[in-house]
Amino acid sequence: MVYEEYVAWSKNYETGIPLIDTQHKKLLVLTNQLYTACLAGRETATEFFLVAVHEFVDYVQEHFSAEEELMAQSGYSRLAEHKAKHDEFANKLLSETQEMKAGKPMVPLTFLHYLRDWILSHIAIDDMDFVYHSKVLKN
Ligand SMILES: [Fe+2]
Repeated sequence: MVYEEYVAWSKNYETGIPLIDTQHKKLLVLTNQLYTACLAGRETATEFFLVAVHEFVDYVQEHFSAEEELMAQSGYSRLAEHKAKHDEFANKLLSETQEMKAGKPMVPLTFLHYLRDWILSHIAIDDMDFVYHSKVLKN
């Protein structure tokens, strides 16, 4: 299957924290993988999409834990608020995935747009807030 690029990494998303940047890049790769699944034929798409969604959800959870650990270690004052946003997104993904598995009709591209918009704005606003505060603390 040809890998399609739906979201591209940009310097603007760079936090300068190697672990976070590597994981964010992988999140975009997985989002592109989901997009590729959307473009596949109808039968293949549903099956491939479910597998890709699973991989995505697992990785999102792994990434959120790593990020929260880092924030806790740095004494980030908005950790609780940040974690609440992570939890809300992860819970939404989990419930959507359950519904998909149960056969609820869904529009993969709409779901994908939601993922993309959430991830990009979360990186640009919330994760960058952490970066800003870490820098302020260091200086
Ligand atoms: Fe985050």
